[in-house]
Amino acid sequence: MGSQSTSNEVGISSLLHAGYGHPLSRSWQSQSRSLTKDMFMYPIFITDQEDAALDLGSMPGQKRWGVNRLEGFIGPLVKKGLRSVILFGVPEKKAKDPTGTLADDPQGPVIQAIKTLRKLFPDLYIACDVCLCEYTSHGHCGILFEDGSINNPPSVARLAEVATNYAKAGAHCVAPSDMMDGRVKAIKQGLIDSGYGGKVTLMAYSAKFASGLYGPFRDAVASAPSFGDRKCYQLPPSARGLARRAIVRDVNEGADLIMVKPSLPYLDILSEARKELCPDLPLAAYQVSGEFAMIHAGANAGVYELKRMAFETSECLVRAGATLLLSYFTPDFLDWLDEGH
Ligand code: PBG
Ligand code: ZN
Repeated sequence: MGSQSTSNEVGISSLLHAGYGHPLSRSWQSQSRSLTKDMFMYPIFITDQEDAALDLGSMPGQKRWGVNRLEGFIGPLVKKGLRSVILFGVPEKKAKDPTGTLADDPQGPVIQAIKTLRKLFPDLYIACDVCLCEYTSHGHCGILFEDGSINNPPSVARLAEVATNYAKAGAHCVAPSDMMDGRVKAIKQGLIDSGYGGKVTLMAYSAKFASGLYGPFRDAVASAPSFGDRKCYQLPPSARGLARRAIVRDVNEGADLIMVKPSLPYLDILSEARKELCPDLPLAAYQVSGEFAMIHAGANAGVYELKRMAFETSECLVRAGATLLLSYFTPDFLDWLDEGH
């Protein structure tokens, strides 16, 4: 058993609706073998500078967007077939604190962007990254003890609160990337208790490795830790056993969708998840900022052609078992998939 009774007497393991309540999340339940537009989720960075469109040097073509720019930015992509985005907040105006108060600030970038996008684009599926590192003064993904180590219970309580507030603001999906122990269960319970248990998808960054490939992202959102690193909570790259256990754990705690991240160096994990660990759940692969930057750098150096390598890497993620790709190439694919290749 293990699943405790809940406020509405439904155990976590009996909740299936949250994974297919939306036409898009339904499409992720089928296991297509070729790339389609509905497989692409576009990660976007939202700043609280409402009118900003600031280029991110290390991620070609990507920007920090202000809420007032979202219509002009997202509108043309929706016309080309964009189905979903995942939001990352970049608070620039207000001071960060040790508990990440700005994460769910009603006037903050994520809550404001959810509301704006829901109003402008009723058919766009909105996922939100749930983490504290972009919002904490120390830049770590949880709440810390005085010695700088993670204090897990208040961390998961805070993450559950943030996720619930994103759900209340209108997010279709919440996606915890913090890697704190027990956060999937805490978030699922928070969603159940606030009436979103069967409505909002919980996508767990389950096998998230401590990678050198997050550098451009940390520049983009200014979330590099001010001391130490994330090796005590993100997985060691060689730790296959931990990755397997984390995936199984998160399924048991109520995840609707499992993610592996980064993508290309971890195809074996993706394949094991698909074939063995969670064959019955949709599976996401996140081609992260450093992978995106690498593909661009190689193309610029004349090693290969950009489009060819974007296709090859994405197709291989699908071959290994992914049904959903988080990709900074999403806008390009909306064009490329129309052109044929
Ligand atoms: C925050 C988070 C990170 C990414 C997604 N969510 C960075 C990190 O853990 O340092 C990486 C995304 C990317 O590199 O594109 N926890
Ligand atoms: Zn984080």
